[in-house]
Amino acid sequence: MKLFLTLFFFLASFSSLYANDMEKAAEKSFSFKQLLKSISDPDIKDISFSLPELPKSNENFVLNGDERYFITVLASTREERTKLMKLGLDIQEIYDTKVSGIAHAKTVTLLSEKGYVILSKMALSEYAQNFLKDFPVNDSAYHNYDEMIQVLQSITAQNRDIASLYSIGKSVEGRDIWTLRINTNAKGDKKSDKPGAVFIGAHHAREHLSVEVPLLHAVWLLENRNKPEIKQYIESLDIYIIPMLNPDGAEYDISTGKYKWHRKNMRKNPDGNIGVDLNRNYDFRWGGAGASHHTYSDTYCGPKAFSEPEAMAAKKFFESRNNLKTYISYHSYAELILYPWGGIYEPVENEKDRKVFMVMAKKMATLTGYRDKQSSDLYAATGDATDWTYGNRGVFSFTIELSPSSGWRGGFYPGTSIIEKTVKDNIAAANYLLSVTDNPYKVIVR
Ligand code: ARG
Ligand code: ZN
Repeated sequence: MKLFLTLFFFLASFSSLYANDMEKAAEKSFSFKQLLKSISDPDIKDISFSLPELPKSNENFVLNGDERYFITVLASTREERTKLMKLGLDIQEIYDTKVSGIAHAKTVTLLSEKGYVILSKMALSEYAQNFLKDFPVNDSAYHNYDEMIQVLQSITAQNRDIASLYSIGKSVEGRDIWTLRINTNAKGDKKSDKPGAVFIGAHHAREHLSVEVPLLHAVWLLENRNKPEIKQYIESLDIYIIPMLNPDGAEYDISTGKYKWHRKNMRKNPDGNIGVDLNRNYDFRWGGAGASHHTYSDTYCGPKAFSEPEAMAAKKFFESRNNLKTYISYHSYAELILYPWGGIYEPVENEKDRKVFMVMAKKMATLTGYRDKQSSDLYAATGDATDWTYGNRGVFSFTIELSPSSGWRGGFYPGTSIIEKTVKDNIAAANYLLSVTDNPYKVIVR
């Protein structure tokens, strides 16, 4: 997109600069070749712009200077993994005796000092070369912020009777956090007594597939609004779809045409490091296990709970609606259906709730082919969204780690071929969530 935009502005400024010449040459048709030839014409002197520099293939300019590494470390228990997270390693992949993930150079040093066995270490800029696809050109099927807004506006306009579009707040850089609401009578932020379901994507910037799933679910629901079971959900429920909670980060990740592997929001921390991990910023055991207090870490929890406007917008959203019953927070990647607790190893204390979580997770696992687990079986992480929405608001909340299953299959950047299956499988799981939102406890009553 950037490249095209640059080209567009280049062409646009060219044509306005030389409008008279162009008018004279009105019969001629434009071609890129001709335009290139014209700017190298020595008769045209006052050229104040230059051609955009194209990255040489096989070089990742964007991540040069990035101080992060992709590392593999010996660790075989959730307790060891939690400690690694605390030290600032952002774990992506878990195997029997080792884990892989992203660590800042300072975290790598810290781990070595503490005696952790680092099995392999590669500069992220080098590792990233296995994922050279760039969002706008090769991955243009993914929606950036503006494209997402266009889709949301269009489907809202076509379904005015049941859909409304409003912002639940602004990001650190001032972008609106758009929310599509499906409700047959209440519009915008007006209260409703109907049981509510919430779907949120992109707490994490580089997890672009987590935008596609809720966004396309919204499109699907409205297109299929007359199917009997969908009609019933739409008439009886209050449905909220927030595809991009972290628009600044998502835009930043694709801003150059080469992915930046950005996870956090775009907060400028006082020491110059960028970003707070929104999924460590909620006020539930905030700043404890599995959360880093280092600003350079990808799992930096922020200076205090809800310090970030994006997390704060989510907090206010949940707090102003007592009707919310179910919630899916979409992430990628690993193919997992996760349920609380995430911050502690103990299972959910309330036996009925625990059973509801387990039954629902199992069902969604069947529908997607993913594995169901208590979140902290992976590692404990405090301050995450779903612990807070369940712990503070009583909402049955799930974290879904979408496809692919591993970095070998594309990690955060699996390309466009994965979208269709992931979206379809997850629409099935999300519709199941809707089917029990009226009373989640019904799943444990025979
Ligand atoms: N990978 C996501 C994150 O790091 C989800 C974590 C789920 N919670 C957990 N305690 N494991 O934010
Ligand atoms: Zn995530």
